Parts: sequence; structure tokens; C-alpha cells
Amino acid sequence: MPSAKKSANSLIKLVQVPSWNDPRGNLFVFEKDLPPFEIKRVYYLTNTVENFSRGFHAHRDLQQIAVAVNGRCRMVLDDGTKREDVWLDSPSKAIYIDSMMWREMHDFSADCVLLVLASAEYDESDYIRNYDDFIAAAKG
Ligand code: TYD
Repeated sequence: MPSAKKSANSLIKLVQVPSWNDPRGNLFVFEKDLPPFEIKRVYYLTNTVENFSRGFHAHRDLQQIAVAVNGRCRMVLDDGTKREDVWLDSPSKAIYIDSMMWREMHDFSADCVLLVLASAEYDESDYIRNYDDFIAAAKG
């Protein structure tokens, strides 16, 4: 994965999205090994509401890349032993989210557009939506 900001202990794996910037505007590209999985699904969140948080689940197998292509939100990741957060506030600042990572999205700006690239099609059975179940599964 190019340009991944990877501290050994950090859950937050930020990726700089390559871009072409010129007087007409900025063009951002995902290709080659970004994301580090084959994209099987793309979705995006719009019309987010500042006081409503989202997420509150983990995935057993799914890997994802998330990027606020407009506006911002605060992404919280939790691997069952620690919890970290980061602002997604730039179209050049993507985050890689591995499987078995509890995620919450808070503090959406009204203009946030959160783009998500996913390694598999939607599968409800891949979700862990209960935090206690996630902790139990993370402990293995
Ligand atoms: P949900 O998982 O609650 O979203 P978030 O994690 O952002 O809070 O998903 C909302 C609804 O959309 C839920 O009924 C499942 C459905 N959904 C799909 O059908 N396909 C998808 O790819 C996704 C991400 C969600």
C-alpha cells in the first residue's frame, strides 16, 4: 500500500491519495495497489447529520478504504484492546480499515460525502453489530 502512515502501534492507517492538481481543480485516483484489495463495492454517505453518528459495527472479513471527498467526519477505530480516532477532512486523506476493526463515525459536517471502497459485496453475515460480541470475537 503506497504512502501508508503505519506506526506499529497505531490502528490509524492513513493513505495519501495520489492527485493531479492544476488550475482547473483536483483529480484524485485509486489504482494499482491502492486500495490493497480488489474493489468489489463502492458506496458513499451523503446528507449526513451533525448530531447523528454512524457505524458501530465491525466486519469479520471485509477490508475498506474510506475518504471524506467533501466535508469531514471523525473516524473512531477500536481493535478490542485500544481505541483511536482521526479526522477524515481531506479528499487526499484516506484511511485503510482492516477486518475485525470496530468503527464509529462521529461529528459529520453537514456537507460530508464519505466515500467507501470495499473488498466484498454487501453481506450482513459479515457484520458484528454488538460491541460485546465484537470484544469476544476479537479475543478469539
Ligand atoms: P448501516 O450498516 O447501518 O450503515 P452505517 O454503518 O454507515 O451506519 O447501513 C444502512 C443500511 O444500508 C442497512 O440497512 C444496510 C444497507 N446497506 C446495503 O444494503 N448495502 C451496503 O453496501 C451498505 C453499506 C449498507
